[in-house]
Amino acid sequence: MTARLLRGRTLSFRSRPQARDDHASYVYEEDGAVLVENGRISASGAYGDVMARAPAGIEIIDHRPFLLMAGFIDPHIHFPQMQVTASYAANLLEWLNTYTFVEEQRFADAAHSARFASLFFDELLRHGTTTAAAYCSVHKGSADAYFAEASRRNLLMVGGKVMMDRNAPPALTDTPQSSYDDTKAVIADWHGKARNHVAITPRFAITSTPEQLEAAGTLAREHPDLLIQTHLSENDAEIAYTLELYPEALDYTDVYARHGLLTDRMLLGHAIHLSDREMAAIAEAGSVAVHCPTSNLFLGSGLFDLKRIRQHGIRTAIATDIGGGSSYSLLRTLDEAYKIQQLRGHRVPPIESYWQATLGNAEALGLSDRIGTLEPGTDADIIALDAGATPAMRIRMETVGTLEEELFLLQTLGDDRSVRQVYVAGEAVQD
Ligand code: GUN
Ligand code: ZN
Repeated sequence: MTARLLRGRTLSFRSRPQARDDHASYVYEEDGAVLVENGRISASGAYGDVMARAPAGIEIIDHRPFLLMAGFIDPHIHFPQMQVTASYAANLLEWLNTYTFVEEQRFADAAHSARFASLFFDELLRHGTTTAAAYCSVHKGSADAYFAEASRRNLLMVGGKVMMDRNAPPALTDTPQSSYDDTKAVIADWHGKARNHVAITPRFAITSTPEQLEAAGTLAREHPDLLIQTHLSENDAEIAYTLELYPEALDYTDVYARHGLLTDRMLLGHAIHLSDREMAAIAEAGSVAVHCPTSNLFLGSGLFDLKRIRQHGIRTAIATDIGGGSSYSLLRTLDEAYKIQQLRGHRVPPIESYWQATLGNAEALGLSDRIGTLEPGTDADIIALDAGATPAMRIRMETVGTLEEELFLLQTLGDDRSVRQVYVAGEAVQD
């Protein structure tokens, strides 16, 4: 049995903060601790209380003055796009056709997929991300490489073989039947093994025929516990082309609804340009709108309307969308999301941002009983964050007096340099 006690300034969320001063939504301990036993959190709270419950002679790792929090969760990212980030394009469709659909073809090769699976998780962990929901490539082998590496590292990862059967190079397309069969095989091989979760992954309406979306809907009905992930209303030209391809649909959201895909397991990447009808349908279905701020700015896609999304009661998440996104860091992502809402006249409190990146994203994935907090009984995926990681941060920290100010400084100036330690299922990740 492995046991250790992590001492530090602990922050853990209980619910979505309703306002800047909603102190009931989180637990913060200036001298706190997390007791980790056999990969799980067995106690957390004030150091004295946790210490009283710890086995005699327990190993104590003192992370003060750093903040101990649940690891960040990235619910929308593309595993085969590490070498697509920072590609110069006018818009989404040009970026996809010029770079992305070329790069993803390389994941037909098992050795290439294995190499990038390792690089991918290295990079996520370096940035304090302990769980992600990733799109693999169209090749089953890319999902095999992804889950094999996640299993080797004992990481809780969500992923799916992308389904795409048109409007892409022939080397990057499957068929309705093969995408169904391959997804079934990925589920059989990986779902529920180690800490793996498989997601049904039709890329988006443009790259799927109605027959393929029907196959995805069949998978969703056969596996109601599985997450589904796709893209929705990211870019104006994308929306116009989608409506040409699906003339019978009321709107873009209805394309997915007609095929049984608009459910409370659905993660809708981007969800920027939505009518009131679409928002009402998404809210009623309980699907999740996944905001990808660095990607939306980088590709010039648009400004996510958080206030309207919330007014409609839609569940939310926040994600990097690497390689459309420009940073692996959830801290950088929170900063860009904040700026987008500033442009919309809506100021997001720091505690709401950190709730979203941890417990909020865990709820979006339906995994808040396992990850996203420091609650006893959950998996010990924990990070230590340093708000004084750089000279500029240390200078600003001299004037910081409250937790809110510190969190805001961390999201505004912080990045991977602020991530001082990462624990996966209670074990320290070595750099
Ligand atoms: N829409 C369909 N595929 C993609 C992708 O890979 N990235 C982004 N940002 N949007 C998409
Ligand atoms: Zn994406």
